[in-house]
Amino acid sequence: MRTLQKQDKEIFDLIKKEEKRQTETIDLIASENYPSKAVREALGSIYVAKYSEGRPYKRYYGGMENVDALEILVEQRVRKAFGIREEWAVNVQPYSGSPANYAVYRGILERGDTILSLDLSHGGHLTHGSPVSLSGTDYRIVHYTVDRKTQQLDYDAIAKLALETRPQLIIAGYSAYSRIIDFAAFGKIAQKVGARLMADTAHITGLIMGKMHPSPFPHADIVTTTTHKTLRGPRGAMIICREELREKIFPKVFPGLQGGPHNHTIAAIGVALKEAMSPAFRAYASQIVKNAKQLAKSLQQLDFQIISGGTDNHVMLVDLRNKDILGKQAQELLESSGIVANRNTIPFDPNPPFNPSGVRFGTPAVTTRGMKEKEMKQIASWISEVISNPASAPRVKKEVASFCKQFPIPD
Ligand SMILES: Cc1ncc(COP(=O)(O)O)c(C=O)c1O
Repeated sequence: MRTLQKQDKEIFDLIKKEEKRQTETIDLIASENYPSKAVREALGSIYVAKYSEGRPYKRYYGGMENVDALEILVEQRVRKAFGIREEWAVNVQPYSGSPANYAVYRGILERGDTILSLDLSHGGHLTHGSPVSLSGTDYRIVHYTVDRKTQQLDYDAIAKLALETRPQLIIAGYSAYSRIIDFAAFGKIAQKVGARLMADTAHITGLIMGKMHPSPFPHADIVTTTTHKTLRGPRGAMIICREELREKIFPKVFPGLQGGPHNHTIAAIGVALKEAMSPAFRAYASQIVKNAKQLAKSLQQLDFQIISGGTDNHVMLVDLRNKDILGKQAQELLESSGIVANRNTIPFDPNPPFNPSGVRFGTPAVTTRGMKEKEMKQIASWISEVISNPASAPRVKKEVASFCKQFPIPD
C-alpha cells in the first residue's frame, strides 16, 4: 500500500486504524469473516475497470473475452461446490444478498402475493418481509415463528400455517437461527401448498460446502446466498434456481435492479469457491461448528441462557435477561473490552429491537484466525467477567489485545 500512503494519507491512515482495530479485537459478529489474501488480491484486480452489462456471451459492450470466461468459470465452480448439475441456473452478479433476494421476489411473484417467512425477531432477515424493507411493502407477509417452548422451528406448525395462508413463496434460511434447517421438510410443505421454496443460505453456505449442514438442493426451487460470511469470500451474492425460472429471475438482476456486474468481486468469489472445495476448508467448517458448540457450552456453564439450549452451526443467541443487562449495554460493554458482537432480538422478545434482550455470537471469524475450543473457553470467561463486573473492561481489553497477537488475521 505504499502508493496509497504517498498519495492519500487520510484514507491510508483510516485503513491502518481499521486494520489495527480488527487485529486487536475478537470478532464474534456471526455474519463477518476474513477473506484470504488470494481473495483480496482478486478483489483488487484490474477487473474493477471493466463494464459487462448482460449475461455471458450476451453483452452490450466490447472487450468481453476474459469477462465471459471468468463468469462462466465461476458459475461452474458454484455448481461444483454445491454438487449440482446444469439443470440449475447460476447468477453470480447480484451486488449483495439484499438485492439478490429482491430480484427473486420480483421475478416470481406478483404484487400482493403471499410470502411465508420467519419473523425478523425470531432470526429471519429484513429482506424476508420486514415492514421496513421493500419486500414487506410489496407483498402480503405471513410470518412463522419458532416454538415458544423449544425455541426451534416447528415444522408441523409451519405446515399448518402454510395450508391456512396459501403462500406463493416460502422462505427458509436465516440470520440468527442456531439449529439445522430441515430443507427436505420445507420442500414437502411447499409442494403440498403449491408454493415455491427459496432457501436463503447466506449464513451457512460455507457450512453446506464444508459438509457441516445439509444442502438445500434439490428441495428448494431457488437458493440465494451472500458470499462473505462462512464462505470467506468478498462481499457479494449469488442466485441459483431451477433452469425453468432463469428467464423470470435473471432479468430482474440486470436490467431490472442493477447495471454492470462487479467483475472484480466475481473473480474473488471464484477464488473463495476454489478454497471452499479444498480439504482444508472442510476442516475449517468443522472447526467453526466445534468452536460454536464449545462457546455455547462454556457460556451455559457460566449461567448464560442460550436460545434453544445450544447450537448446531456457527451462531448462537444469548438471552441476557437473567444477567440484569440488555443487548445494547452488553454490546457496548463487550466492545469496550475488545470483544465485538451485536445486540439481537430473542424470540418473543419483550424489549424493543433497538435495545433487545439478547446478543448474537458467531465463530466464523475467530476460527479463521486459528482459535480453537481452548480459546472459546477463554472468550466465554471474559464475556462473563465483563458482564458481571463492568469495571474489569479496561483490564480485559488489554488481555484481549495481547491474546489476539497470537492469532494474526491470516493471509
Ligand atoms: C439470511 C440473510 N439474507 C440476506 C442478507 C443480506 O445480505 P447483504 O447484507 O449482503 O445485503 C443477510 C445479511 O446479513 C442475511 O443474513
